[in-house]
Amino acid sequence: MKLWSGMLSGQLDQIAEEFNSSIMIDKRLVNEDIKGSIAHVKMLKKSNILKANEADKILEGLDEIYKKIQNGDLEIDLKSEDIHTFVEGALINEIGDLGKKMHTARSRNDQVTTDLKLYIRNECDLINDLLKKYIKSLADLAENHTQTIMPGYTHLQAAQPVTFAHHLVAYAMMGLRDLDRLKDYKKRLNSSPLGACALAGTSYQIDREFTAKELGFETIMQNSMDAVSDRDYVLELQSLLSIIGIHLSRLSEELIIWSSQPFSFVRIDDQYSTGSSIMPQKKNPDMAELLRSKSARLIGNMNQSFVMLKGLPLAYSKDMQEDKESIFDSIDTIKISLEIMAGQIASLEINKEKMLKACKEGFLNATDVADYLVNKGQSFRDAHHISARIVKYASENNLTLDEVDLSIYKKESELFEKDIYEFIDIINCINKRKSLGGPAKEEVKRQIEFVLDELNV
Ligand code: ARG
Repeated sequence: MKLWSGMLSGQLDQIAEEFNSSIMIDKRLVNEDIKGSIAHVKMLKKSNILKANEADKILEGLDEIYKKIQNGDLEIDLKSEDIHTFVEGALINEIGDLGKKMHTARSRNDQVTTDLKLYIRNECDLINDLLKKYIKSLADLAENHTQTIMPGYTHLQAAQPVTFAHHLVAYAMMGLRDLDRLKDYKKRLNSSPLGACALAGTSYQIDREFTAKELGFETIMQNSMDAVSDRDYVLELQSLLSIIGIHLSRLSEELIIWSSQPFSFVRIDDQYSTGSSIMPQKKNPDMAELLRSKSARLIGNMNQSFVMLKGLPLAYSKDMQEDKESIFDSIDTIKISLEIMAGQIASLEINKEKMLKACKEGFLNATDVADYLVNKGQSFRDAHHISARIVKYASENNLTLDEVDLSIYKKESELFEKDIYEFIDIINCINKRKSLGGPAKEEVKRQIEFVLDELNV
């Protein structure tokens, strides 16, 4: 018999029963459901809605169920409709008919969103820690590579020299924004819907402040209809997890490119690579590829949540049951992704020679040839043309810019002197770029310090 089987026979078509059930998904809310119930019953006692001795027995029963679940002495009955009916049923089994009094001044509608918020709040703390660990892995690697020169790209065409540290810190900064978004999100998440009941509150003299405080909520949702139908917090989390996923995906794409043979800038550790079943020479960056594709999954989940909620009238509709599978999946996905990426970064091997060679062959100091002339009074536009002609010469003669003879430079402009070679030395090119945010060694060290400071707050 169903808990709701008052005017209905309580007999669902067998397939409909399966279709209606959410226990396979929401069983992971068991702890939150019990904790929420404990807070609710304490409130019923304090407000004299339940007699003290009755409330105490219910609380003991809930405590017992909680312990049994933790010890594995009570299994979640997968034939239950959902986790809320399971906990209520288990309580009735444990203490008898008195258990039926627990659901006074409450509905599954405020219960489910309370449970989900508590669950998400805890998961956000775990995601926060994993994000920090991942950002730290970037900062740690960056610290060793403030003088590791690599090509910086635009349009994936070699553009200007940067350092590997400079590139890594860019990802660390994205991670800091992710942390900040998570922090900001928690302010809105942490508002209690409990006591909104089905949609219209209750005529019992309940104390919503009490339950909110008991469950660690910072504020109380001020409108009961909004309280039970709000799923903005699911959409917001899906969005911010998708953004984290995109950051990881972009970094993965770089790792895949950098580890490919023509680049060979990095070597992904064997722990994060696989071989081919037929090609013995192959080493495939499978983890990076999976990380790249997990963003698709996150964005898919996000879309599902948005489309599920769009157009739903107030207040609760069963459509909302479909908010959980995707948000749980996104949470699980981001947690393992952050962990894998942190490990991959920490164990990455860097091929400095290859990176430097790519800088030289790509004429990445061509802008500096022009800047040299500008320093001597030439207009940038003319200097740009002169530099382009020297690059053309170098390219046709298979030379790098520091191998081109001074006479060739002088043929293009009398302003060139011997010191051009020092000026266009790649490391000098980088360390001159001291502007805030730039790749110069001291400046990147400052950026790394900034990241580490932010991680400590
Ligand atoms: N399993 C439902 C969900 O996840 C719980 C709320 C059911 N409420 C209701 N009135 N049918 O949304």
